[in-house]
Amino acid sequence: MGTLDLEVLAPRESNCTTDTQVVTKLLDSQIYSKHKAPSSSAVLVRVEFWIQQIISVSEITNDFELDMYINELWDDPNLSFKHLNSCKDNMTMSQSCFRKIWTPNSCFVNSKKALIHDSPSESVFLTLFSNGSVWTNYRLRVKGPCTMDLAKFPMDEQSCSLIYESFSYNIDQVRMQWNSARRNPVYSLAPIQLPDFDIKKIEPKRIMVKYPAGNWDELVVTFTFRRRYVWYFLQCFVPTYLTIFISWVAFSLGPNAIPARTMLGVNALLAMIFQFGSIMRSLPRVSYIKAIGKSITVWL
Ligand SMILES: *[C@@H]1O[C@H](CO)[C@@H](O)[C@H](O)[C@H]1NC(C)=O
Ligand SMILES: *[C@@H]1O[C@H](CO)[C@@H](O)[C@H](O)[C@H]1NC(C)=O
Ligand SMILES: *[C@@H]1O[C@H](CO)[C@@H](O)[C@H](O)[C@H]1NC(C)=O
Repeated sequence: MGTLDLEVLAPRESNCTTDTQVVTKLLDSQIYSKHKAPSSSAVLVRVEFWIQQIISVSEITNDFELDMYINELWDDPNLSFKHLNSCKDNMTMSQSCFRKIWTPNSCFVNSKKALIHDSPSESVFLTLFSNGSVWTNYRLRVKGPCTMDLAKFPMDEQSCSLIYESFSYNIDQVRMQWNSARRNPVYSLAPIQLPDFDIKKIEPKRIMVKYPAGNWDELVVTFTFRRRYVWYFLQCFVPTYLTIFISWVAFSLGPNAIPARTMLGVNALLAMIFQFGSIMRSLPRVSYIKAIGKSITVWL
């Protein structure tokens, strides 16, 4: 049985070019240059985001943070290896090769912080297809801006966005687009769990932006979060209303019970200030009145 296996495998192995040979031949500096764009016309880069988890949404710093995978697909005919007699349709390469090939040089232009995970080695994945298609995937953590409007707090919705584009190439060289092969180019790998928010929608779109150096394709993804307000009702509204109801007891004490009425009134006021303060401590100081303030003021 063993000898039979060897007979079947041996000729095939000897006729196929090994991965190392293919890579060496492909990336030969005489032939391939990472500085040369794959085609003279614009290279189409298809992008897909896989959201791994949303870590936080913060009102204090006006931002949100998430872990995600970024996929990019493009065709580089110079990297086609059909003719090299490799018996494979695709080749997964190490990240050192990544620095040797042309990439669209894309980045988040509005992020506050972004880093590729590197525990223990950099989370970058690169596959070449024999027809010259390139597929890259990185896992990274991004912190992006949110526009916080707390006027409806705690019944508010917040939207946060990330803008992805090629940093170096304008639309004459690189066209970015969401991967249309899938209906949803931005999706979460697992249900998103946040203590304070539910995710309402994730909306990808593409816009074109004019810079002094030309037009750029920008891929914008907007996350809309809806606050879970039940906690605020239990922690703030219910105790506040109870305090106010109790303060009404003063009316039934009669006009002569001045010390008792004063004490009830002052205590109710102190309890309210304390309640309100503990909620407000976790929110930024905005100059407009939040909905939570309005409804409590109405009761007072
Ligand atoms: C490998 O090459 C030899 C000749 O060099 C040939 O006889 C054999 O059929 C080839 N095997 C395959 C699997 O192509
Ligand atoms: C790569 O090729 C192998 C077979 O050689 C196949 O099983 C695998 O699905 C391919 N990978 C991709 C991403 O197409
Ligand atoms: C190359 O092959 C891959 C995988 O089979 C496919 O997804 C891609 O569209 C192909 N590219 C071209 C230019 O045919």
